[in-house]
Amino acid sequence: DWTMGAYREEAIRLIREQVGDQKVICGLSGGVDSSVAAVLIHEAIGDQLTCVFVDHGLLREGEAEQVVTMFRDHYNMPLIHAQEQDLFLDALEGVSDPEVKRKTIGKLFIDVFQKHASEVGGATFLAQGTLYPDVIESVSFSGGPSVTIKSHHNVGGLPEKMGLKLVEPLRELFKDEVRALGRELGLPDSFIGRHPFPGPGLAIRCPGEITREKLAILRRADAVFIDQIRKHGLYDDIWQAFVALLPVRTVGVMGDGRTYDFACAMRAVTSVDGMTADYYPFSHEFLGETATRIINEVRGINRVTYDVTSKPPGTIEWE
Ligand code: XMP
Repeated sequence: DWTMGAYREEAIRLIREQVGDQKVICGLSGGVDSSVAAVLIHEAIGDQLTCVFVDHGLLREGEAEQVVTMFRDHYNMPLIHAQEQDLFLDALEGVSDPEVKRKTIGKLFIDVFQKHASEVGGATFLAQGTLYPDVIESVSFSGGPSVTIKSHHNVGGLPEKMGLKLVEPLRELFKDEVRALGRELGLPDSFIGRHPFPGPGLAIRCPGEITREKLAILRRADAVFIDQIRKHGLYDDIWQAFVALLPVRTVGVMGDGRTYDFACAMRAVTSVDGMTADYYPFSHEFLGETATRIINEVRGINRVTYDVTSKPPGTIEWE
C-alpha cells in the first residue's frame, strides 16, 4: 500500500544511506520543489544540510525576502543568502539566445554552489529538487529521437571536476506528488500552492537581451498581474501565471502625449504536471482591468496582450 507517509520514511532512509555523515548543500530556489527537498533532507540529516539561496537578480518582486524569512526564521535551517546579482547580470549582458541564457545561468549556479560548498567545510553532496518531468523532458520526447527541447539547468549531472555528488530525492515524483509530500512534511498550504518558478527566472520571461531596466519593468508588471489574480481569487485555479516583457516598443497615447514603450504579454495556464497546458480563460473584464492597471501603474509599458497559446504547440515559458 503506497502512501506519502511511506514514501517519506523510505526517502529519509535512502538519504541517510546515501549521505552517511557527510555534509550536503542544497540549492534553494524558493519554489515548492527545492523547498520540499530541503525540508525532507533536513529531516533526514539535520544540520549536516546547509541551504544556499542564490539571488541571481532574476527573481520576482519580494521573492528573496520571503524565502529568507521562511527558511531562516520559521525552519531554523542554516541558510546562506548569496547576493550574486552582478555576477549573473554582467555575464548575461548581450546574450539573447534562450539556451545560451540557460547554460550561462546554470554554469554560474554551479560556480556559486561550489564556492559555498567549500565554505561550508567540505560538503560532498549537492541536493536538488529535480522532478520526473524535468528528467524526461531534458532527455527526449517519449518514443521519439533524443531531442533536447529546453535544457533545464538543474538536470543532467554535474561536471566531474566539481567533485559534488547529487542528492535528488524527488526525481521520481510529479508535481502533485511533491505537493502531497510537502503537506505530509507540514509545509504551510500557502507555500505548497505556490506556482512553479523556473531556475533561470525572469531571464526566460524577457525574450532577447536582458537589461536591468527591462527586469525592473517586468518585475512591476508581473507583481500587478499576480495581485489581480489573487484579488479575484483565481490563484489556486492556475498552474502558473506571469508576465513576459516583449522586446518591442509600440506607440501609444497617454493624456496629451505620445508614448513609445514596451509591450508585454500576460501568460496564465492550467496544467497537471507542466507537460501539457491550456491557457486560462479569464473574463474580458478581468483582462481589461488588468491591462489598465499595468499601463497606469508600470512606467515603461504601454501595451498589454494576453497569450492564448496552449502547450503543445507552445511552451509555458516564452523561451
Ligand atoms: P515549458 O516552458 O518547457 O515549461 O513548457 C515547463 C515547466 O518547466 C519550467 N521551466 C524551467 N524550470 N529551468 C527550470 O528550473 C528551466 O530552464 C525551465 N524552463 C522551463 C516552466 O516554468 C514550467 O513550469
